[in-house]
Amino acid sequence: MQWSAVLSISSQLLLIWISRTRAIDPECYMTVPEITKYYGYISEVHIVRTEDDYLLELHRIKSKTAPTKPDGVVFMQHGLLADGFNFTPNLKNESAGFVFADAGFDVWIGNSRGTPASQKHIGYGPEDDRFWNFTFQEMSQYDLTACVKYILKETKQNGLYYIGHSQGTVIMFAKLSEDPEFAKKIYQFHALAPVATVSHIGGLFKLMGNKFLTVAQFLLKRVANTPLTMPKFVQKIISYFCSLEVVRNVCTLDIGFVDGTEKLFNFTRVGVYLCHTPAATSTKNLIHWIQQVENKHFQKFDYGPQGNTIEYGQTSPPVYNLSNINTPTFLYWSKDDVLADTQDIRDTIFNQMNKTIAGSFEMPHYTHLDFVFGLPATDDIYKPIISRISVDVQRRKKLKHHLHLSEIEN
Ligand SMILES: *[C@@H]1O[C@H](CO)[C@@H](O)[C@H](O)[C@H]1NC(C)=O
Ligand SMILES: *[C@@H]1O[C@H](CO)[C@@H](O)[C@H](O)[C@H]1NC(C)=O
Ligand SMILES: *[C@@H]1O[C@H](CO)[C@@H](O)[C@H](O)[C@H]1NC(C)=O
Ligand SMILES: *[C@@H]1O[C@H](CO)[C@@H](O)[C@H](O)[C@H]1NC(C)=O
Ligand SMILES: *[C@@H]1O[C@H](CO)[C@@H](O)[C@H](O)[C@H]1NC(C)=O
Repeated sequence: MQWSAVLSISSQLLLIWISRTRAIDPECYMTVPEITKYYGYISEVHIVRTEDDYLLELHRIKSKTAPTKPDGVVFMQHGLLADGFNFTPNLKNESAGFVFADAGFDVWIGNSRGTPASQKHIGYGPEDDRFWNFTFQEMSQYDLTACVKYILKETKQNGLYYIGHSQGTVIMFAKLSEDPEFAKKIYQFHALAPVATVSHIGGLFKLMGNKFLTVAQFLLKRVANTPLTMPKFVQKIISYFCSLEVVRNVCTLDIGFVDGTEKLFNFTRVGVYLCHTPAATSTKNLIHWIQQVENKHFQKFDYGPQGNTIEYGQTSPPVYNLSNINTPTFLYWSKDDVLADTQDIRDTIFNQMNKTIAGSFEMPHYTHLDFVFGLPATDDIYKPIISRISVDVQRRKKLKHHLHLSEIEN
């Protein structure tokens, strides 16, 4: 009892001391809308209600000065244990959210259920076990549907341009493969560090081996419906120490969670990254990921033969079939990314989506988080995406114009 009191007081003191030192950049303590304003952009927060009653925050970014592209609506979706911060981690010219806004796009940033900005539900809060009963399957089935519908209504558009990173690509692949009506609303899908199957995953996952995964799954199952998160003050303390030059290299291990060989980050900002990463998700989601590593399929959550029969009406979980996808898809990947492994991309995505891959681009020496945190990503990835989308916006405008003319002529 006494010890915990001492621990609590000393961590409080440490926290006060940390907040008084200037070692961490102020973005550490800001939400994405606050960061957006801090960098001089128009920031909006929109609340979206999903069909299963989760309340999600969408963060909108618009430039105050750049001429706007009226039909250029871009929706960005983050990866596992991350949140919308993934698109505003660096300076204006280095963060996807700002680079796209400066190019005149109407930028919408998603926050999947369970992340700090999206921990609300109509019926119960995050203190309730039921809140954490989800995996990326529900993010795909409910979150994506609700967010895209909301954005299109708000912007009076028929479709939008989607940019996903990692799990943000997983949920879109799943959704597009199941829902052709939804697919019509996605003009282009830009997949950064694309993931479907993860049977060749490397890094820590591989290091720990399959036995570890089996044990982890067994342990996690006992706490399935709980949040997977880190207390805010612990995260701040870690951030502080990771802002110190001497330990910074050790800390990148944490951000790169499974690999730690990143070279493209801004090392001076490691403390800022760590204030926002890892963000929360459910333990059940992690179990779903581990299942994918073990069984090598891109499929729904496995409840076991009996549970699957109740849930899906068949003994094994339904597999997502990427051959159903017709959306023009652009892949951005790297041989140095041990999470979105090249072999997995070849075996699953190239193989099943051959006819709809509109472009495939290999990045030199990008590790998994470099696609969003890496400084060269603006030139290597974001600017090329901007030109690809701009061409399509123009094409659609001409098409609309022709349709309009032929209507008049008739
Ligand atoms: C969790 O969700 C699954 C699938 O929707 C459902 O079958 C199960 O009853 C839920 N469990 C709890 C504890 O709410
Ligand atoms: C890296 O981050 C630091 C701290 O936020 C900033 O002062 C510096 O300008 C950044 N460097 C680059 C190249 O963006
Ligand atoms: C996936 O869908 C394609 C057609 O869209 C079909 O030919 C193929 O058999 C399906 N694969 C599986 C495993 O269901
Ligand atoms: C699609 O398949 C064709 C013929 O099998 C092959 O030449 C081409 O490289 C494939 N495209 C991609 C993106 O994998
Ligand atoms: C971004 O702009 C800053 C100056 O505002 C510059 O120092 C930095 O090198 C730029 N970053 C990149 C990746 O070009």
